[in-house]
Amino acid sequence: MKHFLDIHKTDAADLRAMINSARAMKIARNDRPKGEPDDVQPLAGRMVALIFEKPSTRTRVSFDVGVRQMGGQTMVLSGKEMQLGHGETIADTARVLSRYVDLIMIRTYEEATLLEMAEHATVPVINGLTNRTHPCQIMADVMTYEEHRGPIAGRQVVWAGDGNNVCASFLHAAGQFGFDFTFTGPETLEPEDKFVGFARGKGSRVVMERDPLRAVQGADLVVTDTWVSMHDPESAKERRHNQLSPYQVNDALMAHAKPDALFMHCLPAHRNDEVTSAVMDGPHSVVFDEAENRLHAQKAVMRWCLGV
Ligand code: CP
Ligand code: NVA
Repeated sequence: MKHFLDIHKTDAADLRAMINSARAMKIARNDRPKGEPDDVQPLAGRMVALIFEKPSTRTRVSFDVGVRQMGGQTMVLSGKEMQLGHGETIADTARVLSRYVDLIMIRTYEEATLLEMAEHATVPVINGLTNRTHPCQIMADVMTYEEHRGPIAGRQVVWAGDGNNVCASFLHAAGQFGFDFTFTGPETLEPEDKFVGFARGKGSRVVMERDPLRAVQGADLVVTDTWVSMHDPESAKERRHNQLSPYQVNDALMAHAKPDALFMHCLPAHRNDEVTSAVMDGPHSVVFDEAENRLHAQKAVMRWCLGV
């Protein structure tokens, strides 16, 4: 079963093939007259379940549109409205859904929920974000970097802020795609050793740098994300803002990166918290290309899962 659970669990050659396939699909689609369906409809006759236990704009819409562009059909399910939210086990839910649909994408809280779903499903399962990782996002981010600047291998990526789920998947990608990674943020919000260890084990240079200005020296790509994630308690908000304000991505910080450095954010952004509007809307920013590329990258992920 080809589940797409995490970047470090997927073969590096397969990841590369997915990025290439996403790029080819994007070009083919953009070359086609508007309104005409794609020539290739690899998901014709297939049904995809999209389960959300947390809010979403990009993941929800990009998966739904991606399946339809490939000729398949979707059903968007809210975890709360399913029996899953009323005590039915994840294992039983996985077994039942597998009798109806060809592919399951789930956005959930605990990683254990995703893993249990994958263990008991007899169709592929895709990780649409957990508290720990967000692999689909980083596939789109690698694709976006390479569209603008060529191969990401050997580049210097700097993450500023909270070492969260998106940061974790970036570390997995550092190992799999061969780039170096610097984290700049408070010690208490550093990414888990396990994620850092994976990247280092694959030969990436990973640095923890408390000083944000020093961290971004020589950066090819500066990335940040919200200071408070969906799974973080509301009570963390004030403390996080105090701890993280020195790590805001603003023009002064970007001025210390390479002149042609890109800026990325998975979105949704909290403008003027983790990033200023000047950077979000400025010349380094590729945030809306990233959002678009969720669509193309996930189409490639789904095709890989289904072998079509
Ligand atoms: N970046 C991302 O996953 O966005 P959504 O939460 O809107 O899906
Ligand atoms: N770190 C964020 C990402 C949202 C796409 C969260 O988990 O809320």
